[in-house]
Amino acid sequence: MVFPGLCIVFLLSLLRTSLCVSEGWILHVTDFHWDRSYSSHDLSCNGVVNTHGMYGDYWCDSPFSLIDVTMKAMKNATLDKEVDFMLWTGDSVLHTPDENLSINENMDILTNLTGQLQETFPTMDVYATYGNHDYFPSNQYPPHNNEIYNRTLEHWRTWINDSTQETNFLKGAYYTLKTKYGMRILALNTNLYYTSDKVTTHMDDPADQFVWMEGILMQARRDHEKVLVTGHVPPGIAAEGGRPWFYQHFNTRMVHILQQYSDVIIGLHFGHEHADTFRIFYDHSGRPEMTLYVAPSVTPWRYKIPSATGPKHNPSFRLIKYDRTTGRHLDLVQYYMDLPESNKQGRPIWSIAYTATKDMGVPDISPASMDGFATRTKNPNGPEFQNHLRWRNANAEVMPCDALCHSLIFCNFFKVHDHDFKTCLRDTQHYTASIFGKRK
Ligand SMILES: *[C@@H]1O[C@H](CO)[C@@H](O)[C@H](O)[C@H]1NC(C)=O
Ligand SMILES: *[C@@H]1O[C@H](CO)[C@@H](O)[C@H](O)[C@H]1NC(C)=O
Ligand SMILES: *[C@@H]1O[C@H](CO)[C@@H](O)[C@H](O)[C@H]1NC(C)=O
Ligand SMILES: *[C@@H]1O[C@H](CO)[C@@H](O)[C@H](O)[C@H]1NC(C)=O
Ligand SMILES: *[C@@H]1O[C@H](CO)[C@@H](O)[C@H](O)[C@H]1NC(C)=O
Ligand SMILES: [Zn+2]
Ligand SMILES: [Zn+2]
Repeated sequence: MVFPGLCIVFLLSLLRTSLCVSEGWILHVTDFHWDRSYSSHDLSCNGVVNTHGMYGDYWCDSPFSLIDVTMKAMKNATLDKEVDFMLWTGDSVLHTPDENLSINENMDILTNLTGQLQETFPTMDVYATYGNHDYFPSNQYPPHNNEIYNRTLEHWRTWINDSTQETNFLKGAYYTLKTKYGMRILALNTNLYYTSDKVTTHMDDPADQFVWMEGILMQARRDHEKVLVTGHVPPGIAAEGGRPWFYQHFNTRMVHILQQYSDVIIGLHFGHEHADTFRIFYDHSGRPEMTLYVAPSVTPWRYKIPSATGPKHNPSFRLIKYDRTTGRHLDLVQYYMDLPESNKQGRPIWSIAYTATKDMGVPDISPASMDGFATRTKNPNGPEFQNHLRWRNANAEVMPCDALCHSLIFCNFFKVHDHDFKTCLRDTQHYTASIFGKRK
């Protein structure tokens, strides 16, 4: 609200109109997954023999060298832009069984990465949230205060720095703060709803987070604020697997709350999937009203379980351009590091995977524009879907994608409830199979 007033003053005095352009940038980084045993015990490497490239390997989580060059690339990318704040959506700890972790081990990792970010961005406002891997034992977030929240707050206090929000953090690792341009951040601990959390399964409202967020959103509406929602595990359906990440009753409640406040929520930013994707929420008349953006990971790690092997990923981070007054999301620049080429040349090679307004055929990244793009991915052979397949894994590879794979991805854009998703999957698979049939 400060800026429009300022603009009028500047216009009247015929000063530089560029001062009026109230556009800023948001930096989003997620899923570092630091493996301190890279090239010694290789705890995260799925038991697969790997090449120990100096910046990492697709079978393993990030070595420190990768985290270091990623933060430097983030810094460099922000130098010619007005970056207002950073979102850091968790999962700092490597993928390894609990036997090889401990509270102290996890806290060491979190403390180090927090320190590295603070050294690299000493004046940046950072809104940090936990990932499911940050807790010990892994995924088992309890609905109450614990040692990990207390120890984390010692390091995150410079970013949270508000006594009411410190109390919320100590209770449930959620908080809300206003950015310097007046937008409200709603930082959620959605790990409490994750289907791997055995502690909260039968609860209605772990750590009273739902009731709390409804109160904050209601107040924000009264105060005419715009709200950006951030956290680690996203609501909706994962394209890989085709199931909600949340327990069903939590997904239903979360989506219901978000949709009730779609007039105040200007965007949702999450991590966890290690894939670049998004989901659109629609109102009762089918009009796109909100977008949830899922950012790809820093870790290049691909999972390996007996029944399946996950895709390779290139390390990545993103910048989002937004209107400081309305919160409207204007553009997205996705950065990635070519991991094999960087290892080969012995220096980090970063590029832009895509700029939304240049490469997605959209004027901005509003819900209506994202809906337009998503609709065009219905054709599995079209450029939109083929580009999305490449961008999903930060240009590491284009996985072969059959009718089921296409339908899972397509429906993840549109359907955030399990039953709607299943219906979409049936219809789309039928359609895609007919396209593949024609091609033969
Ligand atoms: C730093 O950023 C500039 C402009 O954004 C880019 O041209 C340059 O290649 C980047 N340098 C490195 C080392 O990434
Ligand atoms: C990981 O845990 C297993 C099981 O407790 C143990 O045998 C192994 O030595 C541990 N490895 C490391 C590097 O800590
Ligand atoms: C984090 O760990 C790395 C590698 O061990 C070390 O070089 C760096 O100084 C540590 N950073 C902080 C802030 O403790
Ligand atoms: C965490 O800190 C609060 C006060 O800062 C204290 O009351 C509480 O007992 C601590 N919890 C644990 C588990 O240590
Ligand atoms: C916390 O916020 C207060 C009031 O805005 C400010 O004066 C203080 O410097 C901040 N502390 C830190 C550590 O940033
Ligand atoms: Zn992760
Ligand atoms: Zn995760």
